[in-house]
Amino acid sequence: MAIIEIRSLTKTFGKIRAVRGIDLTIEKGEIFGLLGPNGAGKTTTIGMLCTIIRPTSGSGIIAGFDIAKHPTQVRQNVGIVFQDPTLDTILTGRENLQLHARLYGIPAQDRSRWIEEMLELVDLTQRADDLTKTYSGGMRRRLELARGLLHRPAVLFLDEPTLGLDPQTRARTWEYIRKMAQKERTTVVLTTHYMEEAQLMCDRIGIIDAGQIIALDTPGNMIDMLGGDIVAVKSPNPPLDIIRALPYVSAIKTVGETIEITMKSAHLHLAELLSLIDNVVSVEIRKPTLNDVFIRLTGRDIRQEDVENNGSWVETIARYRQRGK
Ligand SMILES: Nc1ncnc2c1ncn2[C@@H]1O[C@H](COP(=O)(O)OP(=O)(O)O)[C@@H](O)[C@H]1O
Ligand SMILES: [Mg+2]
Repeated sequence: MAIIEIRSLTKTFGKIRAVRGIDLTIEKGEIFGLLGPNGAGKTTTIGMLCTIIRPTSGSGIIAGFDIAKHPTQVRQNVGIVFQDPTLDTILTGRENLQLHARLYGIPAQDRSRWIEEMLELVDLTQRADDLTKTYSGGMRRRLELARGLLHRPAVLFLDEPTLGLDPQTRARTWEYIRKMAQKERTTVVLTTHYMEEAQLMCDRIGIIDAGQIIALDTPGNMIDMLGGDIVAVKSPNPPLDIIRALPYVSAIKTVGETIEITMKSAHLHLAELLSLIDNVVSVEIRKPTLNDVFIRLTGRDIRQEDVENNGSWVETIARYRQRGK
């Protein structure tokens, strides 16, 4: 059953065409990821679906309600966790949830039970009566997740739910998201630029670039589409034409002194491949990632753009160190 149906959804801000006609159907219970570089239109798309941003044209139906015609009903059926934290830090964790429960008109007799259940789910029962300003970043995120799901929405929207969290906390946050999604068969639509996580977490991915969905599939199919493993060989003068002509090679790309060769069953052909290349400095075999899919589709690297815009310092430095190796 489709829980979200989007047709030609479009948003322009003056001259900026932020979202350029998105068509998308999402099934009940799916964990769907919108993946794309900064400025691709992810937040704007989610904003329209949550009825916070009014579409310029096109339509969206969520849980049977039209986002333009029935925004109140749509809001009752969605939960949102924004990119930037929106907790009231002078309230305790429990008080934040109580406030939300009232705003969403959760019946008085259910309120405290639902709140206790959510606190339990995100492991915050012990800290529920502490002010949220004393919480760590990871705890705040978990409380926001709990709040997003408190009124039992059909769809939970998460905009960069793990942005700025350290890798360990990110992994735990994903566990909670998965657990919550399973509990009520909640449909989850999330945006992220952590490709490895999108790959692991999402049933299906829409790659979005410049306001358009340029690929839509399961992470597994997207990666299979690339045509094999990636073998990165560092060598000063590899015979590119010969390599390109090998029957099992589906693509090659040069990055400085390294050539990245996409090929089927790398382990079977590696010896022959290397026998063709003189002065091999290093060889690395890896499984392709969604970033490789993005590069194949656009010719650009999703991550480079993140480096400039997101300022996730530690990660960026770690990545560049890794690359230099
Ligand atoms: N309120 C706004 N006014 C003008 N331009 C906006 C506004 N919100 C977003 N944009 C622009 O729309 C584009 C898409 O932005 P956004 O949806 O935030 O992308 P993402 O979430 O993928 O990083 C960007 O070029 C951004 O600068
Ligand atoms: Mg955004």
